[in-house]
Amino acid sequence: MNIKQTPIWYGEYKDFIESAIDKYLDTYLALPMTPPLEAYKDALKYAFHGWKKLRAILALEFYLQLSWKNLSDIRFDDDIIRLCIAIESVHAYSLVHDDLPCMDNDELRRGEPTVWKKYWEYTAVLVWDTLNTLCFENISDMKHSERSQKISKLLAHAVWFYGMIGGQVEDIFYEKNIWDLDVDILRNLHAKKTGKLIEASILTGVILSWQTANIDVYWDFGKKLWLAFQIKDDILDVEGTAEETGKSVGWEKKGFVYLLWIDASKKILHDLINDCKKIAKSLGSSKIDFIIEYVENRKK
Ligand code: IPE
Ligand code: IPE
Ligand code: MG
Ligand code: MG
Repeated sequence: MNIKQTPIWYGEYKDFIESAIDKYLDTYLALPMTPPLEAYKDALKYAFHGWKKLRAILALEFYLQLSWKNLSDIRFDDDIIRLCIAIESVHAYSLVHDDLPCMDNDELRRGEPTVWKKYWEYTAVLVWDTLNTLCFENISDMKHSERSQKISKLLAHAVWFYGMIGGQVEDIFYEKNIWDLDVDILRNLHAKKTGKLIEASILTGVILSWQTANIDVYWDFGKKLWLAFQIKDDILDVEGTAEETGKSVGWEKKGFVYLLWIDASKKILHDLINDCKKIAKSLGSSKIDFIIEYVENRKK
């Protein structure tokens, strides 16, 4: 599949999610503000804007497919909108803090200056605080309280000690203690750092659809998809360019390719993609089929 030909539906889903985020921020932050808060609102929007929106798109498609709905059936105050905003809030702030001088010290993200570089470091720290809070406010605003409670727990668990933050702690430790790193440690830290949020995006979409009979199958799918996504990310670190990936690349990023080399990494990626395709057959969504191909062939 030539992924230059991104299907129309992917663009529509992405626009839909981005306009929901903008509308949310404009609606909730509409009161007259002081100049610093107006500037801060710009920084919040900047942290969200652009790129793949892959996690929210996964949640959205699992929800739509399992509840037999189309995009045109969704209204701005529906719970799935709250879920998409919540997921992308967490993802956006994970990148904002990952890029900070005290973390990866990166100046390029999504093809533009990182939040700290454009708006100063203190703003980036406060944007990250705000987006974490905004995630859980959106979930608590859901109409279905039982689903809201389950989703809140699942997302919180995907982020904290045993999730993305725990993975970041380990990632930074092993960057500095590279000789202690092996494939099992790397896989386990990525399971937290990258994996939990991708799995949670799928699982929360399923929970919101209330069609949870096959949730273990979808979870298994998520486990293979995030690993494929991460291995591809590590391949792009050495084969991609900053222009294409929109972020810094290079061998100093010690991922799967560093430990296993390029050919073995590509073979594992290919096998994982085939596993994903097999599992996705039971779902019968051509959109999920595309996402799997996209994860394998993406250039950014
Ligand atoms: C980047 O995620 C962080 C990783 C987990 C490797 P994405 O590649 O999904 O980032 P954006 O949202 O498209 O910029
Ligand atoms: C990105 O991690 C942030 C999270 C996954 C939480 P990395 O530092 O590994 O990835 P890039 O290269 O900055 O996107
Ligand atoms: Mg990092
Ligand atoms: Mg980084």
